[in-house]
This record gives sequence, C-alpha cells and structure tokens, in this order.
Amino acid sequence: MPCRALCLFLLLLLLLLLGPAWATAAASSIHLPAPQSVMVYSYNFRSSLRWSPVKVDRGPVLYTVHFKTGAFNQWDEMNCTHITQTECNFPQFLNERRWTIILRVRAELGQMVSDWVESDPFVAERNTTIGPPKVNSVIVSSDSLLVSVIPPFGSELGDFLQYRVSYWENSTSTTEKETKMSNTLFKIMNLKELTLYCFKVQVEFMIEQDVQIRGLQSVPECYRTTVSEATRAGYIILIFLLTLFLVILVIVGLFLMWRYHNTIKYWSQPPFKIPSHFEEYLKDPSMPVLEALENCTEEDPCDSLSVVCNGEKSQECDSTAEGKARSHSSSSESELT
Ligand SMILES: *[C@@H]1O[C@H](CO)[C@@H](O)[C@H](O)[C@H]1NC(C)=O
Ligand SMILES: *[C@@H]1O[C@H](CO)[C@@H](O)[C@H](O)[C@H]1NC(C)=O
Ligand SMILES: *[C@@H]1O[C@H](CO)[C@@H](O)[C@H](O)[C@H]1NC(C)=O
Repeated sequence: MPCRALCLFLLLLLLLLLGPAWATAAASSIHLPAPQSVMVYSYNFRSSLRWSPVKVDRGPVLYTVHFKTGAFNQWDEMNCTHITQTECNFPQFLNERRWTIILRVRAELGQMVSDWVESDPFVAERNTTIGPPKVNSVIVSSDSLLVSVIPPFGSELGDFLQYRVSYWENSTSTTEKETKMSNTLFKIMNLKELTLYCFKVQVEFMIEQDVQIRGLQSVPECYRTTVSEATRAGYIILIFLLTLFLVILVIVGLFLMWRYHNTIKYWSQPPFKIPSHFEEYLKDPSMPVLEALENCTEEDPCDSLSVVCNGEKSQECDSTAEGKARSHSSSSESELT
C-alpha cells in the first residue's frame, strides 16, 4: 500500500515536472506567427500577393500560397509552395480581369505551420491601379496640339478606353479645361496662338455601362502654340509698310536738301569769331605791327589781309582798315548781328 501511494506520488511529481515542457512543445507548433499585412498589389493588371516576413529564431521560414475563385470555391496551389520570398506573382491563368480571386498564405518551419491568412476578394478590373498613358508625340500648330499617346496596358478584345485630357494656359493655371477622347491620336483644339499650354492625360476604363475606373494622371507637358498664317502675314505687311515709310522719308529728305542746299550751307557754317586779344590789338591805332606792314614792298609783298568788322564798331573798323591795311585785302567778311 505505501509503495502504491509513493508510486502515485512520484508519477504525479514526474507529470508536474514534465508537463510544462510538453505544453510548450505543443504550443510552438500552433503558434508559429502568421504572415501580416497580406495584400494584393496590382498595377496595369499585373498582380501579386505580398506580405511582411515572419521572423523566428530557429531557421528560415517558408511560405505557401493557395488561391480560390468565386466560381470554384476550392483552395488550390499556385506555384508558390514552400517559397522563401514574401511575394507571389499571379500565374498567367489567374490574369482574368473579371474573376473574383481570394488568396491565402501561411508560414512554415519544419513540421510547424502557422494559421492561414486570407486576402480580401480581388477583382482585377476593379482593384488594379491603372498607370498614366505615355505621351508619345505632340505636333504643335497655331490653334491646336495633336497628341499621340500609348495606352498603359495592352488592351483586350472588348476593352473600352477613353482618354481624359485636362489642359490649361500656363499663365492662368486655375482655369483647366477637360475633354474626353476615345482615340490614342487626338487633337486639343481652339487654342490661342503663341501661348504656352500644358496638358495631362489619364485613362478612363469602362467596366460596365456606367462604371469606370480612372487611371493615374500623366506628368503635365507644356508646349507653345505657333504663330498663325494670318498673324505672320500681318507682321510681314507691317514690316513692309514701315520699310516703305522709311524709304519715302529718306527720299523726301534728300529732295529737300537738294532744293534748299544754299540755305543749309549758310546755316551750317559756324560763326567766325576773332580771338579777343587780336580784337584789342586792332582797336589800338598806334600798333607797331601795323606800322611794320607799311614796309611791304612790291618785291616782298605782304600776305593778304582779311578785315573783320564787329557790328557796332564798324565805323572805327572801316577807318582802321582803310588807314592801316594796304590794298592787298582781298576779301572781307563781316559778321552780321
Ligand atoms: C513555377 O515557378 C518556377 C520558379 O519560380 C518557374 O520556373 C516555373 O515556370 C513556374 N511554373 C508555372 C506553371 O508558372
Ligand atoms: C477591391 O476593391 C473592393 C472595392 O473597392 C474592396 O472592398 C476590396 O478590398 C479590394 N480588394 C483588394 C484585394 O484590395
Ligand atoms: C509655367 O508657369 C509657372 C509660373 O506661372 C512657371 O514657374 C513654369 O516654369 C511655367 N512652365 C513652363 C514649362 O514654362
């Protein structure tokens, strides 16, 4: 009896000691953390499932992804089984734009697995992000821009794409105008000449009659419209008339110069002024220099003398000129006042 009691006690003790160790072993297989932030990323209908990595101390964690569609409610593998990366691209057969696709992912480490984590239902047609169209070329004229764009994704039969174009004068960026185009080659019309216009394009993808998703807007591009033929002709005529006017002006000027050349010659001569000390000299009747002039002879003729008279003193001047200058004075100039 005492042995049986003792044995039972020992067994209980053993259980108490070992119990926590078993419990931790069982818990670790259940509690391998599940992947977090499980999201479908989709750009221009290329989609992938991504999640944040699971970090544990013991070895590298692997992941497995399953999918199911709205039509067949059954989980299936999708070529992302026991992978190390934290992303799984959709295989070709899942790139159906209208299917509802649900994915799930779990972490695995040896025999241990985490819980499955499901994504939100994904329908490419509604959930994908459509990028901006690429502006291929722009041909500028005086009143329009001819724009050619490349759609952001290869279209399928039955796709209905529209291009929503906003444009504005760069100087007044507040008044934006919008037009919708259904072709990849379109014209923005009714623009002013010689004006800087900017535009951006976004795709509008029609899903149903009234349902559409809008893509991202392209980076604005700016172009200056050219000068119109009418304005160019106007400028040419203006320049021609100005030139004609100048030529006529020159001709009239030349004619007037010819017609009145005497008057012009008269007015254009600078008035002659004798230096003041010479004037003083001339006023003095007993000037030795003038006396010296008396000694001129026929063999040694004096230089010709110009007599200049100042208006008021013309009388005095005259007598001086007669008295002192010899008949050699060949010309006389008088200044009129
Ligand atoms: C599965 O993935 C491997 C490696 O990533 C690749 O070589 C293979 O072609 C894929 N198979 C299918 C059916 O997508
Ligand atoms: C897809 O769009 C629907 C509606 O906007 C949203 O409820 C759902 O979460 C989206 N799915 C994904 C995977 O983002
Ligand atoms: C458009 O106008 C803004 C200011 O109004 C100016 O800073 C910018 O450089 C202009 N863009 C171009 C392409 O000239």
